[in-house]
Amino acid sequence: MAERSNDVYDVSNLIGEINNLEGTSVAPDLNDIIELIRSEDVKIITFTGAGISTSAGIPDFRSENGLYNIIKSKFDMPNPELIFDFDYFKKDPKLFYCIAKQFIEVEYLPTKTHCFLKLLHNKKLLLRNFTQNVDGLDSKVGLSNKVNIECHGHFKTGHCLSCSKKYSYEEMKAEISNHDYITCNIENCRGLVKPDIVLFGESLPKTVFENLSKISEANLIIIMGSSLRVMPFNQFINFAKKETPYLIINNEDPLGGMALYSGKKYLLQLPCDEGIKKICELLNWTSELEEIYSQFH
Ligand code: OAD
Ligand code: ZN
Repeated sequence: MAERSNDVYDVSNLIGEINNLEGTSVAPDLNDIIELIRSEDVKIITFTGAGISTSAGIPDFRSENGLYNIIKSKFDMPNPELIFDFDYFKKDPKLFYCIAKQFIEVEYLPTKTHCFLKLLHNKKLLLRNFTQNVDGLDSKVGLSNKVNIECHGHFKTGHCLSCSKKYSYEEMKAEISNHDYITCNIENCRGLVKPDIVLFGESLPKTVFENLSKISEANLIIIMGSSLRVMPFNQFINFAKKETPYLIINNEDPLGGMALYSGKKYLLQLPCDEGIKKICELLNWTSELEEIYSQFH
């Protein structure tokens, strides 16, 4: 945890309700958005969540078939979010590792929505992608570390909570294949090893806060596949200039008809990949999208 000890951004409780402003849902007039993406000086910031990875086979958290309902019934846990709580993890890491094992062992592949992010990146239109996802698919599709801000961390490395020894993904994978959880291999330590993902009660990585000022440079915000229920992530969007339009692609309106701020809201209420397909058709980008997708499928 040495890397984290310098963090001053302690967020003791990440869960919270978004602070909605008055507002109404706007029917998607995609032409406005398409025109904006085509304009020369477009600068896009994306905010993403678990809904962009469900078509890769990874459940989201809060949908009916999401992880929290799975955990509730499988482990008879009325408060499934506890599995991702730092204090709970330190007391009993087994349940966390039961879920984490899947992320460490299974090789998931980027979806069309991840490929769209890469396409924006290739075209130099993507200022930053702020993601809550820990599946690593945004970096797998080829977003650079500079652009891709993994707000809730990742499974690429881990650390011993006692002596801070760093563990690679390969080391964790080997360890978890025949243990219930991972402990430090230093003889007189044997501390608990945690992948470098952010649990409830932990600080967000410093890089998140170093990049927040970029959000105000955007002239288009795109939010995809998130219920926007978790703080402080859902608050970061408010760093946008108040006139910046924002497009939400999600299979439900995460704002329940409300607005985030005074910029124009566009809601494309569809599965993410379908929304992306539609946008790419209108932009004449379909073949470029498919080209990226075919590199993985
Ligand atoms: P949620 O599960 O809260 O929200 C996912 C959203 O995506 C919901 O609104 C779904 O309806 C929608 N959705 C699911 N599949 C979709 C699809 N194929 N197309 C379009 N929409 C789809 O997930 P997040 O918002 O990412 O944090 O959750 C945020 C955080 O809560 C996670 O990072 C995690 C969790 O607790 C930590 O563990 C720290
Ligand atoms: Zn150790």
